[in-house]
Amino acid sequence: MNLFILFTLFMSSVEAYKVLLIYSLPARSIGILGEGHLRNLIDSGHEVTYITVYPLKNHKYGNKLQQIDVSDNVKSLPDNGIMDIGAIMHNGVPMNDVGTLQEISVHNAILTFENENVRKLINDPNVRFDVVISDLYETEVYAAFAALYNCPMIWSYSMGAQSSVLQLIDQPTNPAYTVDYLSSNTLPLSFQQRVEELWASIKWNVMKRFFLIPKEEAAYEKYFGPVLAKRGRRLPNYKELIYNASLIFGNEHHAVGNLPSTPQNFKFIGGYHIESPAKPLPKELQTLMDNAKDGVIYFSMGSIWQSKDIPNDVTEGLLKVFGELKQTVIWKYEANLQNLPKNVHILKWAPQQSILAHPNCLVFISHGGLLSSTEAIHFGVPTIGVPIFADQFLNVNRAVTKGYAIYVPLTINLPRDLKPAIETMLSDSGYRRKAWELSKIYHDRPVSPGAEVVHWVEHVIRTGGAPHLRSPALHVPFYQKFYLDLAAVLIVSFYILILAIKSIFCKSFKTKQRSDSKKTKRN
Ligand SMILES: *[C@@H]1O[C@H](CO)[C@@H](O)[C@H](O)[C@H]1NC(C)=O
Repeated sequence: MNLFILFTLFMSSVEAYKVLLIYSLPARSIGILGEGHLRNLIDSGHEVTYITVYPLKNHKYGNKLQQIDVSDNVKSLPDNGIMDIGAIMHNGVPMNDVGTLQEISVHNAILTFENENVRKLINDPNVRFDVVISDLYETEVYAAFAALYNCPMIWSYSMGAQSSVLQLIDQPTNPAYTVDYLSSNTLPLSFQQRVEELWASIKWNVMKRFFLIPKEEAAYEKYFGPVLAKRGRRLPNYKELIYNASLIFGNEHHAVGNLPSTPQNFKFIGGYHIESPAKPLPKELQTLMDNAKDGVIYFSMGSIWQSKDIPNDVTEGLLKVFGELKQTVIWKYEANLQNLPKNVHILKWAPQQSILAHPNCLVFISHGGLLSSTEAIHFGVPTIGVPIFADQFLNVNRAVTKGYAIYVPLTINLPRDLKPAIETMLSDSGYRRKAWELSKIYHDRPVSPGAEVVHWVEHVIRTGGAPHLRSPALHVPFYQKFYLDLAAVLIVSFYILILAIKSIFCKSFKTKQRSDSKKTKRN
């Protein structure tokens, strides 16, 4: 009875907030991050309206979850083979071009604003939210929703403490010791690498300022101006709006190391998408893994790139390498494969977290996406990284530097290169030890990352946008930060001083000349 009273008291003290959660990029792994937020928020009693490319089917959240379907956004992906491992292996696809990625992002945002379901939401004058949380990837135009609902804005960045996002709430980091997510450099940087990072940063900023912000601003005015006007309000200035976020969540954890210092409203929540404890494995898989007395090697290229696109001869080579192993190999492969060796099992869809959680899982062969990288540390499994794209190189390089991963390039020679990597990883226990060590660091936190998400979201709402967490650096103009005004004062003073000295010197020289000439005259 007492417990019941306590419980009702507790429940009534927790207010249910209305959250608008925006995950509009057509990338499955990004969708998983969105689901991480909604699970944690709804489990804590809040209501979520979820703009998503991957609506949940048969969910357990009832009317606590409203879904706005933007699955049409898959149209924004370029059709140039960027998603095709086979084409990439043959080196035919330009990857990691920041301009292309920025374009895709803005184009995708415009598709989102034009989506019928989103238009309905935007045009409904009765909808209100306490906070907007949006995925952040190469565009800040979703801040428009915070302007529309006149509420605080939180970004959830799918990667870590990158310069381009830190500058939204504080200032850019120094490229001399922070590596761009599209780069494959590792710290410490050589002279040439430092120049490369500086150039990447300049290029990003120029593209952003002169090509993207104008496009974003136009979309902002086009899609949100008339709606706000109907409600008798004016759009806030776009540049003020995008530098007005309350908080940024970074999907990374200190265990990966080499992170730059961050402002107080940047929160590392890496691992919040992982359900703990892991869901039980399907029965067949459980038996398979339990019975693998020499251990299991798990191979997955993630959810965006598909193993089935690997050219046939490479696939045959891989099966041959796997077939020679004592270990059981579980391969996430999205089609049927004939003539599998006895120890190789393919899964069209793999419950990755539960597989990694199994104590018999010895090695994870992975493309090094951020979710997979985080899960490897969470479950303490050493990895062989075969990066394809974007931040995967950065993630794999970091893991190699930390000592729990081996890098193998994605080429048609994959079978030849993978074989010694697997042998080394199985025979040298150092990799496994290192993965456990980092896992211990990763798990040693005051609260779980999911609880941290909920706390900070509630904190932002309760404190009216958490203005006390904002960095003063945001409102200091460039010339003041670098004391360019002082430099100007010094240069001008110095110049005046030189002039003064010159004129004094000239005057005394002239008087001397005059007196000299007088002397000569007298003589
Ligand atoms: C900035 O955010 C605060 C708090 O969320 C809000 O009150 C204010 O209206 C916002 N200003 C602009 C220009 O968006």
